[in-house]
Amino acid sequence: MSIPFFRYPHLFAQQREEILNAMTAVMDRGAFILQSDLVEFETAIANFTGARHALGVANGTDALIIALRAAGIGPGDEVIVPSHTYVASAASIHFAGATPVLVECGPDHMIDPAAVEAAVTPRTGAIMPVQLNGRTCDMDAIQAIADKHGLAIVEDAAQAIGSRFKGRTAGTFGIAAEISLYPAKILGCFGDGGVLLTNDADMARKMSLLRDHGRDETGLVVTWGLNSRLDNLQAAVLNVKLQQLDAEIARRRAIARMYREGLAGLEDLTLPPGPDGDADHFDVYQNYEIEAGRRDELRAQLEKDGIRTIIQWAGKPVHQFDGLGFKDVHLPFTDRLFTRCFLLPMNTSLTDDEVQYICDRVRRFYAG
Ligand SMILES: Cc1ncc(COP(=O)(O)O)c(C=O)c1O
Repeated sequence: MSIPFFRYPHLFAQQREEILNAMTAVMDRGAFILQSDLVEFETAIANFTGARHALGVANGTDALIIALRAAGIGPGDEVIVPSHTYVASAASIHFAGATPVLVECGPDHMIDPAAVEAAVTPRTGAIMPVQLNGRTCDMDAIQAIADKHGLAIVEDAAQAIGSRFKGRTAGTFGIAAEISLYPAKILGCFGDGGVLLTNDADMARKMSLLRDHGRDETGLVVTWGLNSRLDNLQAAVLNVKLQQLDAEIARRRAIARMYREGLAGLEDLTLPPGPDGDADHFDVYQNYEIEAGRRDELRAQLEKDGIRTIIQWAGKPVHQFDGLGFKDVHLPFTDRLFTRCFLLPMNTSLTDDEVQYICDRVRRFYAG
């Protein structure tokens, strides 16, 4: 068998006719920027997540920058963020003019609330929990720290559409949140895209101005803004994809269940919690990130067996990238995790047989 980490052509093949029809309709109408498909998409996302306001933007990174700026975060402020995240989380803080303060994650790979508490200083303006791998952080603990110190929460829910903590959806906890619509995401478009969520009408207005040149509904420029709109064509594609979002999440959870059963009892491995394992969490499995003591050997054998795996972020958490200026940041837990963690394939193009094959090959490696 040959199992790539991700099958990009599948994104189109899955719903080929519907997508072509939707795109053709947009192009026939000449409806490219800030048109009805975008409004339809934003309404649907607000309904799906339970957020009062949703705004389509050009990508998830822009969404975070816009959310931070609308929340009043800027020069002189520190924002606490885990180092185990995509560089985009920290970069958004940098480009909002503030300083990213990188902290440890815990054994669940999510930001460690104790590390957040320890990193609070008089300059801290916000906490950016990252809802990593399709799981939501312990938002009770994060909220308690934010309340105690009067901090904003700007959620990076790039990887977590539909994930829930105690019944509440990722993206609805803080003052604003971002979800990425990058093609490989659970809800992915055919290029870059992102969506901003907020329950706060004032934030929604500020973010709406920031994404469109500072222009209000009449076209009048009332403040400085960016050009960061989600293309209407992408919104039309997303409206088709939205029809399958529940099924997409259910299939990912089913694959996670198969991995959990198929890889049970292997002492060298640490698996993510199963989909039915924890009443507080509803995980959507953007990624299936496991730990293995013999990781590099195991990955090499899987590669020979035709199974492509990856380590997130090119194998390095943010503080390990030399060019970013975090040489004095020491995060031993995260460093150790990055000698052990990697991702097994997790996407809805995988067949049951392929998941079974992956489990069999992992078992064979440990039996050998
Ligand atoms: C955790 C995390 N944050 C932020 C982003 C940035 O999103 P985008 O690629 O849409 O800018 C991503 C996605 O790639 C991500 O995985």
